[in-house]
Amino acid sequence: MKIALFASGNGSNFAAMLAAIETGHLSAEIGLLVCDQPEAVVVERAKANNIETFVFKARQYKDKATFETKIIEQLQQHEIELVVLAGYMRLIGPTLLTAYEGKIINIHPSLLPAYAGKDAIERAYAAGEKEIGITIHYVDAGMDTGEPIAQFKVARTEGDTLESLEARLHQTEHVYYPQIVQQLIEKMEGTVKDK
Ligand code: GAR
Repeated sequence: MKIALFASGNGSNFAAMLAAIETGHLSAEIGLLVCDQPEAVVVERAKANNIETFVFKARQYKDKATFETKIIEQLQQHEIELVVLAGYMRLIGPTLLTAYEGKIINIHPSLLPAYAGKDAIERAYAAGEKEIGITIHYVDAGMDTGEPIAQFKVARTEGDTLESLEARLHQTEHVYYPQIVQQLIEKMEGTVKDK
């Protein structure tokens, strides 16, 4: 199955998805990277791996519906069946939500509904939360509000700094996001592989 990744920044989840494909843990092809930040590291990662990119600047378009129409054209051209948001820091609008209904998922570094939005890890750390985690969910029009697919907890241990906690959360994302994508693909294809 061909999937598209949407990202805005570093793209460590993009890299984890690629690694899972290379090691045979994820039976998908990344047909397209969509990125709204031309200078983002993730664009370099995609190019280094010969993955097609659609890079755009939102302000060059009249409105969200216009650039999302362009994105849909690209997705269709590349025969994308599942959209995987991985650090894409933009709300998905009705144009794209309608075109890919039920086929857009996101990862967020908190146990939603807690700490939706930006700087989730920093805010949870500052609040002294003992248990944080990640959520993978379907995307709707809200910010980090769609139906949850899976959550994984990460304990804060004594002596954890923001950096060490952040690193563990990201590792958790890298382990589980490809696994959940694989499960969804199997569900969409109507096949469940023998474990
Ligand atoms: C990830 O931690 C992801 O959960 C978060 O952005 C980071 C992207 O890292 N997403 C959100 O906060 C979405 N609201 P990456 O670019 O290294 O994959």
